[in-house]
Amino acid sequence: MNAGLVTFDYLVFKKLPMNRNLAFALYFAILVALLYLSKFVKVSLLESETSYDYKMSTSEKPIINADSKSNIPELSSKEFIKADGTLFKKNNKSHYIIGANYWQAMNLGAPENGNRTRVLKDLETLKKYGVNYVRIIAGSEGPDGEPYRMHPALMNSPGDYNENVFQGLDWFLAQLSQFNMTAIMTLSNYWHWSGGFAQYVNWADPSKPIPYPVPGDYLSFELYAARFYSDSSIYSKTQSYYLAHIKSIITRKNTITGQIYKNDPNIFAWELANEPQAIRVENDSHDIIFKWIDDTAKFIKELDKNHLVSTGAEGKNGEEWFITMHKSPHIDFTSAHIWVENWGYYNSDNPSLENYQKAETFMLSFIQNVSDWSTQINKPLLVGEYGMARDAWSGESKYSPLATVINRTKYFTSLANKVFELEKQKACTGHVFWAFAGIARPSDPPPTWIGDPPHEPPGWYSIYDSDEKTLNVFSEHAKQVAELN
Ligand SMILES: *[C@@H]1O[C@H](CO)[C@@H](O)[C@H](O)[C@H]1NC(C)=O
Ligand SMILES: *[C@@H]1O[C@H](CO)[C@@H](O)[C@H](O)[C@H]1NC(C)=O
Ligand SMILES: *[C@@H]1O[C@H](CO)[C@@H](O)[C@H](O)[C@H]1NC(C)=O
Ligand SMILES: *[C@@H]1O[C@H](CO)[C@@H](O)[C@H](O)[C@H]1NC(C)=O
Ligand SMILES: *[C@@H]1O[C@H](CO)[C@@H](O)[C@H](O)[C@H]1NC(C)=O
Ligand SMILES: *[C@@H]1O[C@H](CO)[C@@H](O)[C@H](O)[C@H]1NC(C)=O
Repeated sequence: MNAGLVTFDYLVFKKLPMNRNLAFALYFAILVALLYLSKFVKVSLLESETSYDYKMSTSEKPIINADSKSNIPELSSKEFIKADGTLFKKNNKSHYIIGANYWQAMNLGAPENGNRTRVLKDLETLKKYGVNYVRIIAGSEGPDGEPYRMHPALMNSPGDYNENVFQGLDWFLAQLSQFNMTAIMTLSNYWHWSGGFAQYVNWADPSKPIPYPVPGDYLSFELYAARFYSDSSIYSKTQSYYLAHIKSIITRKNTITGQIYKNDPNIFAWELANEPQAIRVENDSHDIIFKWIDDTAKFIKELDKNHLVSTGAEGKNGEEWFITMHKSPHIDFTSAHIWVENWGYYNSDNPSLENYQKAETFMLSFIQNVSDWSTQINKPLLVGEYGMARDAWSGESKYSPLATVINRTKYFTSLANKVFELEKQKACTGHVFWAFAGIARPSDPPPTWIGDPPHEPPGWYSIYDSDEKTLNVFSEHAKQVAELN
């Protein structure tokens, strides 16, 4: 290549009767273009060398070549999704969500210490099974030494971003175009596994350490995290740090595509936070959280008119709560999460049919209720999380990838059928399962980034690429909704 440049230099300066300034300009333009191209050549060589370093069965061919394609800026030409009554519309057609929680995305996408080959493989698997949405974390808080957390964090301290992780988010969003997928972006977290509200509280008032919860005792932690919106002595700080973060995300220019996030159709919606809780707000001051939802959603809408906004809530506190949380004019759709084991409706160690049926009955009733409430306020409903442990009675620990998933598959099938029944009545828009581990396993060298966040027993709710029976539930549902338009 250098030899080529010498020749070019010679031609321009010695042989051609050309204006000297013009020749210089041409020279530099071509030099820059060559350097630019050489960058792609290098990257693609580098990536193809390291592409398939994970174990792959010999019969399996690489589906995606992690080549320079993933580095070429690609602007999405998709349409933004709109809310229309209780439905989502894309190009004026009803649009349904079959989603996977893949909260690890930005860390796995990072140029340094990420695992892009894995991401491409995982997205390919999800696409194969009809998944068209991923719900991901778009905000995690440091410092990195804290326990039970995703790290490195996106934001080390207020306004101080880890550019490597941010570029991981850029890269991940850029990949979605080739998979025809769209992202739900969760901006913060009530729980501690991404830093979240407790960290914002600690930034605003470092005098008290975060009381990390121990299993069975979440109360002190929840009261601490809820100070994020309930403690008037620090609220101006916590909220301004958080709004500044939201602004940084929404106005971020993607380093791969050049697109500002607020203009990116690969993004579908913003969720204020993962599972904001209010039941334990001190003095039961519920109006505080409702006002927080309204103010924050309004702030987002003023910055970004393209994307939809929801709460990220579970919807577990009954009708009045659900409706009040979601009736703000700045909230476009409603959110529900269903956790039968965590909420005491399922015991994964109990082999009785009765035990399973209790969980299924609760889930069906819960979904019917949130659907009714969402219809009352004429907004689309999205079931943003649900999961079930593997069969603990199968002779393996429920955390082991070797345990069977008979009950889980049955439960997921029942949930998808319920959602489909409601979709036909325009009373639900889809579901997002928890959580995709793809090719990763709990036994992989850390950080494994399986589907279970760092504070939970590894393997509890992870869905692996090998869980074909469970994944088939999504392809079946994808076929069903394809008939709906
Ligand atoms: C979408 O539907 C509305 C109402 O049915 C109609 O007025 C509008 O022209 C349609 N837009 C497109 C792009 O088809
Ligand atoms: C992308 O998804 C839409 C549905 O959202 C579908 O109509 C379209 O055919 C898909 N395109 C590709 C290339 O898979
Ligand atoms: C809750 O009520 C108690 C007793 O009335 C009061 O001392 C405390 O300051 C209140 N806490 C908040 C966060 O308002
Ligand atoms: C769930 O697993 C238990 C344990 O074997 C089994 O008895 C029960 O029938 C399963 N439930 C269903 C619905 O298959
Ligand atoms: C759904 O609502 C009905 C009527 O209010 C109530 O009896 C039932 O317990 C609710 N289901 C769940 C799972 O909360
Ligand atoms: C990527 O992830 C897979 C699955 O966890 C793992 O086997 C592989 O070693 C990882 N690669 C890198 C470079 O971390």
